[in-house]
Amino acid sequence: MGLISSAVISDNLERDREVDLFDHRSQFPALEVAHRHYFNYGGQGVICADALDSITKNFRHIESIGCFSNAAGAWMMAEYGATKDAIAQELQVSPNTITLTENTTIGCNIALWALDWQQGDRILLSDCEHPGIIASVVQIQKRFGIEIDYFPLTKTRNSSADGEDSISVVELLVQHLQPKTRMVMISHICWNTGQVLPLKAIAQACHERNVLVTVDAAQSVGVLLLNLEDSGADFYAFTTHKWWCAPLGLGALYIRPEIFDQIEPVFVGWRGLTGKLPIPQWRQDGAKFEVASSTYALYEALRIAIAKANSWGSQSQRYVRICQLSKILWEKLDALPHIDCVRQVPPESGLISFTINRELAKNEIAQQSHSLIAKHLELEHQILIRALPEPDCLRASVHYLTSITDIDRLIVILETLSIN
Ligand SMILES: Cc1ncc(COP(=O)(O)O)c(C=O)c1O
Repeated sequence: MGLISSAVISDNLERDREVDLFDHRSQFPALEVAHRHYFNYGGQGVICADALDSITKNFRHIESIGCFSNAAGAWMMAEYGATKDAIAQELQVSPNTITLTENTTIGCNIALWALDWQQGDRILLSDCEHPGIIASVVQIQKRFGIEIDYFPLTKTRNSSADGEDSISVVELLVQHLQPKTRMVMISHICWNTGQVLPLKAIAQACHERNVLVTVDAAQSVGVLLLNLEDSGADFYAFTTHKWWCAPLGLGALYIRPEIFDQIEPVFVGWRGLTGKLPIPQWRQDGAKFEVASSTYALYEALRIAIAKANSWGSQSQRYVRICQLSKILWEKLDALPHIDCVRQVPPESGLISFTINRELAKNEIAQQSHSLIAKHLELEHQILIRALPEPDCLRASVHYLTSITDIDRLIVILETLSIN
């Protein structure tokens, strides 16, 4: 799902000629800062001016109509509905399947804690999951006495999701399922390598064995063309502040309707209630897993962010551009003797991880840790890139908003690390 053949990528090469992109980029104030080259979309996206303006406008609007008035309440509920509709449309699912959250980790927590875990049950994770998600699973282990298994996804780092090797990821995962495994927890796109997992095949294999699939989608929403109903994922948790370029603090969780009766929320509140007595009577949709008041004034900014992206081609075209630019960066990095790319196959997402080979890079900056190198790139060159702990590397995020000029500048500066 979401993967486009290399033939389509080359057909779209012309789309990349920066002309129309410059106009589009000019609507994002962070990209207009002189001499800045932004490569941290996997951490946080840049917000367009219209979305920024809507935040102030909406806070003022609420004050002007009376913040706890019936009018404000109706306005907030309309915002809430419109936002669920917009998210659902992008994911090709019903709005009823969407739970609004604040970030990816909350969505994953809702999913992870929703099962009636019994002592001795097992959960299977890849060895590339995000620390915050591992922490939640360890808490569940402490609370319920479950067992945690890991499968070595790292071993498949050099397979591509649409290549013949993709079956080996599924096989590897299946080999690690045990009779008592009740849930698999995986990322759709690995945050540390950019590897895309074959979600549909994984979900199919897991469902054949009565295992639920929870997906950390922090790095896939806003990148891949998604049809969640078709994917078979049981839970798909994400934030909107990364690749969708919405404000921090808005996330969502998709729950496959077929599993709704098997799960229960842990944290609950008025948002999940029907309003009918006796309490509690639960809404039979994603709201059952929501709790209470939210920053409704932010919601329009998310819808604007989604619409802004959709004003620049389709999701498939943007994904093609991401892969095309990532491949250019990956090839240029690969051509530098003192740089080693973490993956040896062309990128299938916008995350490119690489290490500085300190023996070949003579410069004294290059002898420092990757996190100090990242600080140096920001301070001295306005190149915003991050260091990762595992594998110990630098990670550049390439968005459809990234320009060839950004990539060229990053390469020029990285080249200087080999100069004594
Ligand atoms: C794969 C993955 N999961 C989870 C997170 C945490 O995201 P959030 O802050 O939205 O919970 C990140 C953030 O970098 C991530 O890359």
